[in-house]
Amino acid sequence: QTGKMIHNNRTVPGHISRFEIDLQTGPGVQPNDMALHFNPRFDDPHQGQAVVRTNRQNGGWGGEERHGPCPFARGAPFDMLILLENDQWKVAVNGQHFTEFRHRNPWQSVNFLGISGDVIINSVKQY
Ligand code: GAL
Repeated sequence: QTGKMIHNNRTVPGHISRFEIDLQTGPGVQPNDMALHFNPRFDDPHQGQAVVRTNRQNGGWGGEERHGPCPFARGAPFDMLILLENDQWKVAVNGQHFTEFRHRNPWQSVNFLGISGDVIINSVKQY
C-alpha cells in the first residue's frame, strides 16, 4: 500500500561460527555416511575462515579439501547451487563456480539433505 515501508533488518549475531550442508544417507545430524559435507567455518583454528569439504563413510571422516577463498560472510545472504555430475559434485555460490568435489561415496546413496549450524534457510529447490 502507498505509504508503507519495509525495513529489512539483519542482525549479525557475534557467535556465528560454522554451518554445514550435507548430502547424506539417512536423517539426523552427521549420520554415518555423507557423500558431501560442506562446512563453512568462521572459527577454524588453522585458517580462520575456511570452507571444509569432505565425506563421511562408516562413521569416519575422509580427508579434507579446503583450498580456495571463503565466499561466505557473517550476516550476508547467499545462494548456493549443487550440481551432480558423473564424477563429481559442483558447487556455485552467489552465481559463481566455487569448487568441485570428486565422488568418494556413491552419489546414489544420498537420500537426505542435512542442514545444521549457524544458518537460516529461506528455500530449497530441486531442478
Ligand atoms: C571435525 C568437525 C566435524 C567435521 C569434520 C570434517 O573437526 O568436528 O563437524 O566438520 O571436522 O573433517
